[in-house]
Amino acid sequence: MAARKIIIDTDPGQDDAVAILLALASPEDVDVLGITAVAGNVPLDLTAKNARIVCELAGKPDVPVFAGCDRPLRRDLVTAEHVHGKTGLDGPDLPDPTMPLQVQHAVDFIIDTLRNHDAGTVTLCPLGPLTNIATVFQKAPDVVDRVQEIVLMGGAYFEVGNITPAAEFNIYVDPEAADIVFKSGAPIVVMPLDVTHKALVTKTRNDAFRALGTGAGTAVAEMTDFFERFDKEKYGSAGAPLHDPCVTAYLIRPDLFSGRHINVEIETTSELTMGMTVADWWGVTDRPANALFIGDLDADGFFDLLTQRLARL
Ligand code: RIB
Ligand code: CA
Repeated sequence: MAARKIIIDTDPGQDDAVAILLALASPEDVDVLGITAVAGNVPLDLTAKNARIVCELAGKPDVPVFAGCDRPLRRDLVTAEHVHGKTGLDGPDLPDPTMPLQVQHAVDFIIDTLRNHDAGTVTLCPLGPLTNIATVFQKAPDVVDRVQEIVLMGGAYFEVGNITPAAEFNIYVDPEAADIVFKSGAPIVVMPLDVTHKALVTKTRNDAFRALGTGAGTAVAEMTDFFERFDKEKYGSAGAPLHDPCVTAYLIRPDLFSGRHINVEIETTSELTMGMTVADWWGVTDRPANALFIGDLDADGFFDLLTQRLARL
């Protein structure tokens, strides 16, 4: 089967970096048409820089990287240096990128790509706030129906919030954008905290990254060593949750994941629950299903896949 054409929309972020590495290590499964940066974990200048650092870490400096929106649609930008460090990629000591940032705005790149490829053949993979994707849909409503699928990391139901008691970071940063995307009618697969909190980088798994003895393997081990502090302290987790790599792994091995087609709506009015993904997991409303909401994964299978693919870089 031909590799799936994808655009990765991202706010690197250590877990975004691992998701990108997994994609770039899997050309038989995913054809990365471009990477679009958005403000999120750290400001846009850093996410656009970090995306290029990761491409060069993967030995893929030809992947076009574009800068997108530098702030949410309506709200002030909230960043997460407390989780990802000042650079957004704290942990390994990686060289500044030499590959150029594309001149075209990320939103225009996504619009052009969707228009220039056959309808239903390009998948969007948002790993950060949904500002770029919502802006695409606002600027060019005609492209919504051309999207093959949106496979995104964001939201939570049973796990509730990681940035507020009610909301997950990606949705919380730009709830208006998330509302536009979830109401767009495009087919959506959601990787919420409910599943990503089961993808924990235990010491054994981190040791396996390091044992690869490669630049990428060691960098991933150092990234997750740094990144795990927040979740270990807050949740007492057994290691860093690999949120964003769940998106890439789903594209390669959807059989590793399970979930339900349900209705998901976004809180955009109450400050108390702003950005909450109100997921009708138990089907108590007659609101139409608009998303495949993933609740579980085969964690060992996920880490075997990730480690095997990282060994290729
Ligand atoms: O809540 C986790 C999500 O927020 C991940 O995508 C992480 O990279 C941050 O963007
Ligand atoms: Ca992210």
